[in-house]
Amino acid sequence: METLFSGIQPSGIPTLGNYIGALKQFNEIQNDYDCYFCIVDQHAITVPQDRLKLRENIRKLAAIYLASGLNHENITLFIQSEVPAHVQAGWILTTISSIGELERMTQFKDKSQKQTEGIPAGLLTYPPLMASDIILYNTNIVPVGDDQKQHLELTRNLVDRFNSRYNDILIKPEIRMPKFGARIMSLQDPTKKMSKSDDVTKNFISLLDEPNVAAKKIKSAVTDSDGIVKYDKENKPGISNLLVIYSSLTNKSIEEIVSQYEGKGYGDFKGDLAEIVKQFLIDFQEKFNYYYENKEILDEILDNGRDKASKVANKTLKKMENAIGLGRKR
Ligand code: TYM
Repeated sequence: METLFSGIQPSGIPTLGNYIGALKQFNEIQNDYDCYFCIVDQHAITVPQDRLKLRENIRKLAAIYLASGLNHENITLFIQSEVPAHVQAGWILTTISSIGELERMTQFKDKSQKQTEGIPAGLLTYPPLMASDIILYNTNIVPVGDDQKQHLELTRNLVDRFNSRYNDILIKPEIRMPKFGARIMSLQDPTKKMSKSDDVTKNFISLLDEPNVAAKKIKSAVTDSDGIVKYDKENKPGISNLLVIYSSLTNKSIEEIVSQYEGKGYGDFKGDLAEIVKQFLIDFQEKFNYYYENKEILDEILDNGRDKASKVANKTLKKMENAIGLGRKR
């Protein structure tokens, strides 16, 4: 069976964008692969985090992974900082990364612009750590949203570089993105990505938003003035974004939804979508609460995940160290 790896940062509460772009795909393909899902807390600290909030977000993210339908008996769910091999292999991959290629990463450019007190070096070396997350598990496939494409391409380059410089031991991963929904946009500015670390809460729907509040956010989402429900990403980014959300949550095709609203206005469309989102969140949060409130169950899942992940990760790390000549031969 091939191996799947993916990660989410506990840098806020995941949004509907994270669900549609990532968690939903994880859920759909979990039985086809040997799956590793990671709470990448060391990536989250590349920008300042509040200590208590970070701890809370880590637990919440664990419960969110499970609430989205992952079967904890078949998958490995763990916290990055509890498996030290990630930073160890990350360091090795940092040594074969060039500053120029890291500076070209759009996520680095975006995030570094927002820093007011100097740019943390970790923002620059973020991608080799991400590459190490992936290669440690001999990963074949990485399901992610569109914004991680560039990081995945860099990962593939680093794999080639490591293999040709040292020894052919790392597996080159493939990226997997959903056909629709790989980039869910902000509700108030549909030319911008929906993000869990956005300061303006009206821009995104958090998976833990109060369902009625989320419904209101959908109703007040920015659209256009021509009043026709139609998919046209260039000219109608707001309605197109809402159509993708509608389609993802109902599994109806965009064409089907468009014909359902022929001759009707945005009011009907948004009202129905608000109801769909509300119901989705009610069901989701019921499952979330079960895992979040059952502390022992969650801890056991994360302990088992850490133990299983460590075994596999340490094996790959040892191979890498041997190939390079680090430490002593034993
Ligand atoms: P993160 O935490 O920003 O996002 C988690 C996942 O959600 C996807 N995503 C979106 N999909 C659709 N629309 C959106 N608006 C949207 N926003 C986010 C992301 O593409 C991602 O799949 N660097 C990663 C975390 C990471 C990782 C890894 C991922 C660390 N190591 C190894 C895969 C493999 C990140 O910041 O994701």
